[in-house]
Amino acid sequence: MRKIDVVATATIFEEFLELPSEVQILMQRAVEAREKAYAPYSRFKVGAALLLENGQVILGNNQENAAYPSGMCAERVAIWKAGSEFPGVKVKQLAITASSSNTKVDQPVGPCGACRQTLSEYEINQKESIEIYFMGEVGQIVKTASLLSLLPFSFDRSYL
Ligand code: THU
Repeated sequence: MRKIDVVATATIFEEFLELPSEVQILMQRAVEAREKAYAPYSRFKVGAALLLENGQVILGNNQENAAYPSGMCAERVAIWKAGSEFPGVKVKQLAITASSSNTKVDQPVGPCGACRQTLSEYEINQKESIEIYFMGEVGQIVKTASLLSLLPFSFDRSYL
């Protein structure tokens, strides 16, 4: 038996203005998407903005439903929109932001497990890392250099 360390490296930006200017613009688009979220049940709005290699920015937000499990996360709305409109076009960056009318979201909100799994397949297929930036409504922003760094020991098509 032996133990191994699985290390994830992230960069922390203390505030929005510390982000590179092009990432500020992408995050601003995520905020725009977040404000249009349909989240009447959780009151937790999430916005996602994807930058594609062709320069297109694809937005997504969470879409809830009275039959709760029928709702969908912002990140998957965005990545499936990109995959359906621009199949095969690489994703360079993803910006995520969340806010709530119940509380001030001041912690970075990372993508849920199902979104990580979904995004990982796109990253693997395109053979290029997707930079992920995530924040709450205010406060720190976390950057990871790839999706797979958020999902060690992940499941992929090679097991099938
Ligand atoms: N949500 C997202 O949109 N993305 C995530 O990664 C986590 C959760 C949404 C789903 C639901 O509409 C609300 O946030 C509360 O869970």
